[in-house]
Amino acid sequence: GWKMEDVLDEEIKVIQGKVGPEDHVICALSGGVDSTVAATLVHKAIGDRLHCVFVDNGLLRYKERERVMETFERDLHLPVTCVDATEQFLSKLKGVVDPEMKRKIIGKEFICIFDDFAQHLERDLGKKAVYLVQGTLYPDVIESCPPPGSGRTHSHTIKSHHNVGGLPKDMKLKLIEPLKLLFKDEVRELGKILAVPTAFLKRHPFPGPGLAVRVLGDVTEGNSLEILRQVDEIFIQSIKDAGIYDSIWQAFAVFLPIRSVGVQGDQRTHSHVVALRAVTSQDGMTADWYNFEHKFLDDVARKICNSVRGVNRVVQDITSKPPSTIEWE
Ligand code: XMP
Repeated sequence: GWKMEDVLDEEIKVIQGKVGPEDHVICALSGGVDSTVAATLVHKAIGDRLHCVFVDNGLLRYKERERVMETFERDLHLPVTCVDATEQFLSKLKGVVDPEMKRKIIGKEFICIFDDFAQHLERDLGKKAVYLVQGTLYPDVIESCPPPGSGRTHSHTIKSHHNVGGLPKDMKLKLIEPLKLLFKDEVRELGKILAVPTAFLKRHPFPGPGLAVRVLGDVTEGNSLEILRQVDEIFIQSIKDAGIYDSIWQAFAVFLPIRSVGVQGDQRTHSHVVALRAVTSQDGMTADWYNFEHKFLDDVARKICNSVRGVNRVVQDITSKPPSTIEWE
């Protein structure tokens, strides 16, 4: 129970004190709640010395880039530069199957892009970027490494969130993490005060490494990313149509690197299997699997197999966290 107005004032003062009058700041926008609230907060503190960048890493959801860019321009009036780095990311991920390796590679590529963007600002516009804003939350911090003297108790290292543990030591930009001591619900509250549209604040969390942690194994194999995008879009749209989106912490589809036998029409098929995951949670630290109605699941599974080429089987993940994590990798 801290008062969010006070947290906001305090954070703004801290940022204004830290960022010198000639310093510029880069913010990596993911299109999610955290980075958007962080950007809006920093923008309030230092105005147009903030430069937002949205990276299309080829691991985004269906039409994500178009949707996010439109929201930023139309609703938030935040100037954003969009960088298309699809090839850069996917070529580095080719053949990589280890989940931690994938996360490390992605984290590293992001930093390269931010460094390039910083160089562009300095060389072409004469603006010296000194800081990078990240929307790191408290649960990210405690799941990656225990923060000294944070005042909140910690657990142990679970995996390297790219926006915490995965950052290379030689990164030139210094970090500003205004949400580092907050939980998700507190960030949403802060966003409300900052007039971020409610529809935006209610978006489900989406991990920094994107679909790379939802395509198990090599993400560049076949057209797995494209299949996953289509399946995920059907699942999420069905959830919205059923009016249950806001009752769920996070819902998404997972592409499994296996094939199973099926029969479609009078043809025997040997096609892909996708998993559906939906959970409820307070802060992402623990989670319960969400119990859909039978008819909902039946309709979604039918719709997926009928409209997504290459999928002949849909399964549902019925594990909670722990023992599973929310993401599959
Ligand atoms: P897990 O899978 O660890 O996820 O139970 C807990 C919450 O964190 C999100 N998540 C991430 N977010 N970078 C992020 O920004 C990451 O590397 C990352 N990994 C997991 C996940 O979607 C869930 O909401």
